[in-house]
Amino acid sequence: MSKLMIEISGLSKEYSGKKVVDGLSLSVDQGELFGFLGPNGAGKTTTIRILTTLTKPTSGRVLINGFDVVENTASVKAEFGIVQQHLSLNRDLTIAENLELHARLHHLTPDDRKKRIAELLDYVELTDHADYLVDDVSGGMKRRAMIARALIPRPKLLFLDEPTVGLDAQTRRKVWDLIRKMNNDGATVFLTTHYIEEAEALCRRAGIIHHGKLIALGQPLDLRKKIGMIAVEMQSNGNGTQYRYFPDRAKASEFIQGLPGTEKVMMRESNLEDVFIELTGQKVLGDQR
Ligand SMILES: Nc1ncnc2c1ncn2[C@@H]1O[C@H](COP(=O)(O)OP(=O)(O)OP(=O)(O)O)[C@@H](O)[C@H]1O
Ligand SMILES: [Mg+2]
Repeated sequence: MSKLMIEISGLSKEYSGKKVVDGLSLSVDQGELFGFLGPNGAGKTTTIRILTTLTKPTSGRVLINGFDVVENTASVKAEFGIVQQHLSLNRDLTIAENLELHARLHHLTPDDRKKRIAELLDYVELTDHADYLVDDVSGGMKRRAMIARALIPRPKLLFLDEPTVGLDAQTRRKVWDLIRKMNNDGATVFLTTHYIEEAEALCRRAGIIHHGKLIALGQPLDLRKKIGMIAVEMQSNGNGTQYRYFPDRAKASEFIQGLPGTEKVMMRESNLEDVFIELTGQKVLGDQR
């Protein structure tokens, strides 16, 4: 049986009486690459803050590799590395100096520091930019520097809060490759994103969070199967776009043939965004459930 790296049960967090995380329960296996998908304000960062001991839950329980985030804070801290959503490098320092500072905080010996930093710069392909000031490198390089920094103490678990936000498509793919590489090298990865395609491209399993509640959890393919593998989009004047989902193309074609014929119709494969739209009711017009 696989061992659990993250166990969340009945987790809630309130700010001024408002539940921003609401009864969340889920587990992540050791070695898994898990995606936590949700729109702005869904509660992703708050969940990560609780999992990384930065904020206390209002209720519920979280274990990280068996350690309770409230009771065993120090043990939990030794388990993970984190790449925060917002840029958190020291802008007065070079990339290498930022890593050096972090390595000192983790009490690496001078020899170990030198070796580890060289190794990590190579790992994230920043060796050539080691001596650049943070402000003088691209967004993708900053992100990779933050990843290198998080990897210094060789964490078993890595939290990545929106690791590719604001990056262009090409740079995003480069960061995806790095995330896959870290996961292949043994790290459990918990990443948040609001890019549907990111969760589909990277994650074996994904959870969808909406208004603090987990509304879906599973493999992207299974989540799609639940709503239907084939989507039909219908555009009619003044009525926006309506969506219907079908288990296969034959059923979808049958439905399209029965339509009055005045609408613009498109058939395509469903995706996680459809799952989200179906489950939240957002964007779904003329819903027949
Ligand atoms: N310290 C705080 N005090 C009060 N409200 C907060 C605090 N931190 C977060 N919130 C609120 O909690 C909700 C969830 O925020 P959170 O940052 O967890 O969302 P998110 O899913 O990470 O969103 P985004 O995609 O924009 O990063 C939001 O409504 C936010 O305003
Ligand atoms: Mg966030």
